[in-house]
Amino acid sequence: MRDLAVALDVGTRKICTIVAEVRPDDVFVVGVGIEPSLGMKKGIVNDMAQLTAAISASVHKAEKASGFDIARAFVSVAGSHIASLNSRGVVGISGQRGVNLDDLDKAMEAARAIAIPHNREVLHIVPRSYSLDGQERVRSPIGMHGFRLEVEAHIITASSTSVANLEQSVEAAGVSVDRFILNPLASGEAVLTDQEKEMGVVVIDIGGGTTDMAIFIEGTVWHTSVIPVGGDLITNDLTHWMHIPFDVAEAVKIHHGSALQRSIDPLETFLVEPFGEGMPTEVQRYAMAEAIELRVAELFDMVRREIKRSGYDGLLRAGAVITGGSAQLAGLREVAERELRMPVRVGKPERLTGMADVLRNPAYSTSVGLLRLGLKMDTISRPAPPSGSVLPGSKIGQVLGGLFRRLLPADSDG
Ligand SMILES: Nc1ncnc2c1ncn2[C@@H]1O[C@H](COP(=O)(O)OP(=O)(O)OP(=O)(O)O)[C@@H](O)[C@H]1O
Ligand SMILES: [Mg+2]
Repeated sequence: MRDLAVALDVGTRKICTIVAEVRPDDVFVVGVGIEPSLGMKKGIVNDMAQLTAAISASVHKAEKASGFDIARAFVSVAGSHIASLNSRGVVGISGQRGVNLDDLDKAMEAARAIAIPHNREVLHIVPRSYSLDGQERVRSPIGMHGFRLEVEAHIITASSTSVANLEQSVEAAGVSVDRFILNPLASGEAVLTDQEKEMGVVVIDIGGGTTDMAIFIEGTVWHTSVIPVGGDLITNDLTHWMHIPFDVAEAVKIHHGSALQRSIDPLETFLVEPFGEGMPTEVQRYAMAEAIELRVAELFDMVRREIKRSGYDGLLRAGAVITGGSAQLAGLREVAERELRMPVRVGKPERLTGMADVLRNPAYSTSVGLLRLGLKMDTISRPAPPSGSVLPGSKIGQVLGGLFRRLLPADSDG
């Protein structure tokens, strides 16, 4: 078992490295390194040298804080190059024995054998449900009798070149990629409860350059997607509107911004210093909120259409959980609830121990989730002890983890 785990969240706005000690029932954070990100646009690398420098800075900070050298890390992936699809795999079960792990493996292999273009690679493949001799929705077929096992799998693919560019940038910073993990899967791991995942929920991580979504139903992921728009769009609007630099607009958004116009006093104003030598200008908070509300409503309209497109819009009984840095924008939750027409809460990482105060913020959901999910995939891909004391549940996990492991980028390098 490893005793140290590292998460490297490569965002559009920040790079966050977390070093944690793996303890039997918890991860204990021993060092964090947060640095501004450079060289990424909408989740895609656009300047490798800049990105490598930013990753190095974040990694060195975490090394210094923790006192450990970082050799490898779980790394986040997002961007508009991500696609997902559902696929079925069928396998025959021979003789009178019950279904075993090998059968599950073979069924997943069959589901995976769909035509994937040569310029794309499989990032994750997750079993959603099984059916045995036509009996649908079998959650755990292990030990059950039947002749024909079918798996319904969710497959997430990424552009090979986008992944290779990210991997090269990370490696140039002296870190090898332990696993790539899709952003919204990580965020879901950090902020969703088991009950929400069981009942049906969508996690929406609104970052700087991307909005990452994942739908969980009956305990597993059924749909994922990445919308190439995030909170930076609002900041950009403000720079144009008020003729102010980006960092000033950022501060204005955080201190005076609201996505809910009706919550703002129409008479309230504040001052900003525009470009040039002009005098400070008075801005009406109410007018600014109107512009922000329109943008936010537009974003949630895209999210709503994406949920509809998935076909699972009727199954989200636990509603939506929003997270990511932009989830902190005042009024955003209310607008989300109105546009999505479902209950919405803001999620942030909880149950953290160690030097983790800074991480208890929606902006670090992906970072914390990377650590947890990376370790989970690790544990469940380790061979089960031969004692026979292993529960069927964890054997299923093993299969899941085994598949995740087989699909590591190392496998798909060629
Ligand atoms: N208090 C706040 N109020 C409103 N917006 C905020 C606040 N704090 C951060 N943001 C916004 O959150 C965004 C950054 O979020 P986050 O740190 O999750 O991004 P990221 O992970 O680097 O980017 P991405 O996931 O898109 O690649 C920025 O648009 C920033 O303006
Ligand atoms: Mg992010």
